[in-house]
Amino acid sequence: MNFELSEEQLAVRGAARDFAQNVLKPGVIERDNEQRFPADEIRQLGELGFLGLMVDPKYGGSGMDVMSYVLAMEEISKVDASTSVCMSVCNSLYCYGIEAYGSEAQKEKYLKPVASGQKIGAFCLSEPEAGSDATSQSTTAIDMGDHYLLNGTKNWITNGGSASYYIVIAQTDAGKGHKGINALIVERDIEGFIVGAKEDKLGIRGSDTHTLMFTDVKVPKENRIGEDGFGFKFAMKTLSGGRIGIAAQALGIAAGAYELALAYSKERKTFGKEIYKHQAIGFKLADMATQIECARLLVYKAAALKDAGENYELASSMAKLYASEVAMKQTVEAVQIHGGYGFVKEYHVERLMRDAKITQIYEGTSEVQKIIISRSILKD
Ligand code: CAA
Repeated sequence: MNFELSEEQLAVRGAARDFAQNVLKPGVIERDNEQRFPADEIRQLGELGFLGLMVDPKYGGSGMDVMSYVLAMEEISKVDASTSVCMSVCNSLYCYGIEAYGSEAQKEKYLKPVASGQKIGAFCLSEPEAGSDATSQSTTAIDMGDHYLLNGTKNWITNGGSASYYIVIAQTDAGKGHKGINALIVERDIEGFIVGAKEDKLGIRGSDTHTLMFTDVKVPKENRIGEDGFGFKFAMKTLSGGRIGIAAQALGIAAGAYELALAYSKERKTFGKEIYKHQAIGFKLADMATQIECARLLVYKAAALKDAGENYELASSMAKLYASEVAMKQTVEAVQIHGGYGFVKEYHVERLMRDAKITQIYEGTSEVQKIIISRSILKD
């Protein structure tokens, strides 16, 4: 596999890096403290084409490949994972889901505004009782002829308060198990739809995570994605790609913490020399650099397989599992290298450490990734 980056990919990475350093970094600590959604920053990202990076330009997107997307995700996540999760959900769950499986009318009405950065999309699968076990959907979408009657509650929904459109997974026919599940596009201002309070979180505190309540919401039949009963497979296929985005986010968080620790170790002196000259610190930096490079190769591999039109389900789960574990482990090390300074907000690494944790949980916990990986390697 050749990971030499093209001029175009390098340009996307450079633009994302500039945006992260110049636009996101100045206010990131304040937004984290205030749990403030980066609305203005997301609007600017949308104008730059970063919310529909992989979408065909005929639907308002930037027409880039998956590799460009992971490069951009890494750079944005080095600085602000609250912004990058919004970007990830818009790109790989919302836009990809509708572009790959939606009707032409759905693409015109619901893909274009998000891909062109004018609106935000959300993906609603998790429920109070259905996180990892995604087939156990309690939310119901009863077939009423020309519409579905939607009732239920969704939890932990990224972009929950800021989205205009929501892809909602719900059970139409419980007797058919996962084959009775549908994916519906729901508009924000529809009657019976309530956005609950924002969650007060350990990390990614700027991101907009809400509970959503649906009571007798009438969703037009034409808003169902794919054939009747396609909703569970739709969710699984879409999440496989989404995991590449979250793996890139985890990689960025780890790489951001490493870059800060490396720079700090060259400035800070103890016992008469810069701390990187102490073997205890040098070895930590060596482990960080090695594990981050391994994570990067797994993320690039998953992206390259998706770009080549090959099966990427195993690769995306491996990338997410490994990159998220590296992010958690190495952000803790970055705090340790900073000593007491690492424990205060000004130095950024404590935020990256808090942000890292969610990458082991959302879009499938590490345990879910191990289910997917073990099933794949153990099948005949
Ligand atoms: N592509 C296509 N089809 C797939 C598939 C895939 N990637 N994965 C499963 N399927 C199909 C299977 O082939 C099977 O179909 P058939 O019966 O026709 O053969 C069907 O779907 C059911 O599959 P399983 O038997 O594997 O289903 P399961 O109940 O055992 O699922 C699981 C196992 C992998 C753990 C799944 O439940 C899962 O992925 N759970 C995690 C859900 C998740 O990621 N939630 C995160 C919420 S979204 C989020 O976090 C977004 C955000 O806000 C950031």
